Amino acid sequence: MLLDQKYNEIRDMIKKFADSEVGPVAMKIDHDGAIPKDLIAKLAENGFLGSYIPEEYGGAGLDYLSYALLIEELSRNCASTGVFVSAHTSLCVWPILAFGTEEQKKKYLPKLAAGELIGCFCLSEPNAGSDAGSLTTSAVDMGDHWEINGVKNWITNGREAGLAIVFAKTKKTPDYKGISAFIVETASPGYSIIKIEDKLGIKGSSTAQLAFDKVKVPKENLLGQPEKGFRVAMATLDGGRIGIAAQALGIAQAAFNYAKNYVKERVQFGAPLANLQGIQFMLADMSTKIASSRLLIYHSSSLKDAELPYSKESAQAKLMASESAMWVTTKAIQLCGGNGYTKEYPVERYFRDAKITEIYEGTSEVQRMVIASNELKEG
Ligand code: CAA
Repeated sequence: MLLDQKYNEIRDMIKKFADSEVGPVAMKIDHDGAIPKDLIAKLAENGFLGSYIPEEYGGAGLDYLSYALLIEELSRNCASTGVFVSAHTSLCVWPILAFGTEEQKKKYLPKLAAGELIGCFCLSEPNAGSDAGSLTTSAVDMGDHWEINGVKNWITNGREAGLAIVFAKTKKTPDYKGISAFIVETASPGYSIIKIEDKLGIKGSSTAQLAFDKVKVPKENLLGQPEKGFRVAMATLDGGRIGIAAQALGIAQAAFNYAKNYVKERVQFGAPLANLQGIQFMLADMSTKIASSRLLIYHSSSLKDAELPYSKESAQAKLMASESAMWVTTKAIQLCGGNGYTKEYPVERYFRDAKITEIYEGTSEVQRMVIASNELKEG
């Protein structure tokens, strides 16, 4: 897809930052299991935590396609940093922008843009994963405030978050119909981290299980209409899936670049591996899967920017990009042989980081459900 000059300039600016500030610390982030505080500060200083926030609320005022380029370039260097920014932006900033009152926007968006508050999104629970509508966290109207009780699982940024978008039932229903959305400040008494998961990949990104024990939430922190929270969640995930697709694309591109250089330099049987047609076929398939993912991501982002329907297209982008990332990183290890399997080189990290993109913000099976249901509705 031919991008306007404007996007090439934005990409160049992001690339310069990501290659110089993120790439050099990516292995350390993976090893230490955390993104350094000074890197988070630099992300904020450069406007990357408020990329999608309009300038009137302290952000950079970029569009979603630019934001997708940001996540792609960060993730090409470090997928943990990519998803840190992606969960903050797609899953916390966006629902406030789309469903928040003017007061909510004025109160929270400048702090999210400045990195004073990091955002997270609390939908999943121990017994409500793909079936998000069956969640049981409750929010009870106590007259002058809401009281939230429940446990949330798999919360990206759960360790760093100062602000959480929380989904809870204000009406006891077995399905999604009783769900409302809330903006919750994590400094509220009763909010706590139960555990931080020890994961296969994206080790620098925190994934938390959170407890809400009689957490008091101001009445004005209801996000959107009461009992319309499931729509808030689904609409948020439509955009979030583009962010995860861009993360997967960045990982795949990094693995491909590494493996391509490796086979050009690695001499076996008297010639570089790249001279062998079997290797060239593999490179061609990797390159084609990456290009297909990129087109779907840029297309779905452009639809979102044009305020056209993009639910099916974002699910397609995530499905293609995440499954391609897993395939491409597997082949990248194969091309690099033993070197690809060791921690001395980044290829095994790309492989470990790719897997989660087929799982969070809806598994590949959920993406297929979304795509098929949209296709069937379209007739
Ligand atoms: N936008 C707005 N509303 C939507 C919507 C969308 N894209 N899709 C569905 N809805 C609305 C429907 O209109 C309907 O509302 P009404 O009855 O008021 O009209 C309601 O939602 C239910 O629709 P469906 O019957 O189609 O929904 P469903 O119950 O069959 O669910 C599902 C389908 C796609 C499987 C959905 O449950 C889903 O996406 N599950 C996966 C959840 C998920 O991705 N979880 C991960 C959370 S985040 C995470 O991973 C952690 C992290 O920190 C990164």
